Amino acid sequence: MPTNSAAWLTAPYAPFVVEDAPYTRPAPTQIVIRNRAIAVNPLDDIKQSSGNLMYGWLPTRTVLGEDVAGEVAEVGSAVTRFAVGDRVVGYAVGMEKGRRHAAEGGFQLYTVVESALAAPIPEGMRFENAAVLPLGISTAASALFQKDQLGLRHPGTAGTPNQTVVVWGGSTSVGMNAIQLAAAAGYEVVSTASEHNHQRLRELGATTVFEYAQLSQLIASLQGKQVAGILALGTGSAAKAITIAIATRSRRVAMASPSVSFTGLPQRPGFTLPLARTIAQLVMSQTVLQVRAARHRIRARFVWGSTLMTNEVGPMLWEQFLPAALAEGRYIAAPTAEVVGSGLEQVQTALDALHQGVSARKLVVTL
Ligand SMILES: NC(=O)c1ccc[n+]([C@@H]2O[C@H](COP(=O)([O-])OP(=O)(O)OC[C@H]3O[C@@H](n4cnc5c(N)ncnc54)[C@H](OP(=O)(O)O)[C@@H]3O)[C@@H](O)[C@H]2O)c1
Repeated sequence: MPTNSAAWLTAPYAPFVVEDAPYTRPAPTQIVIRNRAIAVNPLDDIKQSSGNLMYGWLPTRTVLGEDVAGEVAEVGSAVTRFAVGDRVVGYAVGMEKGRRHAAEGGFQLYTVVESALAAPIPEGMRFENAAVLPLGISTAASALFQKDQLGLRHPGTAGTPNQTVVVWGGSTSVGMNAIQLAAAAGYEVVSTASEHNHQRLRELGATTVFEYAQLSQLIASLQGKQVAGILALGTGSAAKAITIAIATRSRRVAMASPSVSFTGLPQRPGFTLPLARTIAQLVMSQTVLQVRAARHRIRARFVWGSTLMTNEVGPMLWEQFLPAALAEGRYIAAPTAEVVGSGLEQVQTALDALHQGVSARKLVVTL
């Protein structure tokens, strides 16, 4: 058995500790990836910096991380798409309920990944570039294509829908993937971002990009268009999305971010005043939002990035669309990878940097 080690979360609010980890064999539908690059996400930061406010089902000692790229080290007995040695990118779902939390976490040398949530990496693509994709593209696809979310037509479906999709927060990891996926499905895409990212978003397929403060101009640009749905990314984005939906008579909003930020909360256990205030604001703003949406018969739902593994969107994305689109250069691994360092010790450095904020970058650690 190979020797494994992981960046362990050993207590609420604690920094990661790099220690030995068991090597876990794959179940029949799984593969084991020897990770060569892993990326960090806001949800890893939220889990580490807000105790059990989220992901309360995880054991105290656990392995976080969703984005991995590397070589296949072992395949489960029912796996036919991959062989040992293949270069792959995969979505590690160890933080989800009911999973083998430590074995399926990304922040380690060997991660167990569902083969249905992995794709081959083209020869010319580096591991660190591929590692930017998994959670971002999965969340974008769940939001855009699931019937209980925006329910858009899938990429590769014949004909063009002649409709527009709004991606609020287009320069986030999820947003850059949502722009590309919606454009690949034939939709016109209107988005928002800071100005220095506008050109990049146009390169990814957005037709028009506005700054966050240009809500009325964005709405004016949609006059006479049929808006198929709005994806809201970033703190405060859901309220903007509902306003756009009301103005354009769109019926569907997918929300990926809570309406208040958890970033400034004290990083210690206990029910503090700022925590109580944040929870109260969260409950109040979500209630106002849902009442406003309901009055206009808008379906505004919170999206969860891993839900695609239980429906038709997962195979559409990971087995049909992504392998071919990457190989043919039709899909750009975005945002751009920024390698923070090498070795599991650098995972904490990467997460600390993410906590400070990034702009159209994915922070990656090589292994
Ligand atoms: N529900 C789920 O399953 C799920 C999964 C993944 C992510 N998320 C959530 O989705 C959001 C995006 O995640 P991510 O990993 O894609 O983020 P990210 O890449 O870390 O986001 C960084 C980007 O946020 C943008 N930004 C800053 N202020 C903003 C604002 N007011 N509105 C919109 N965007 C703003 C910045 O763009 P500029 O520099 O251009 O301003 C920056 O490029 C986060 O809230 C995250 O928690 C949810």
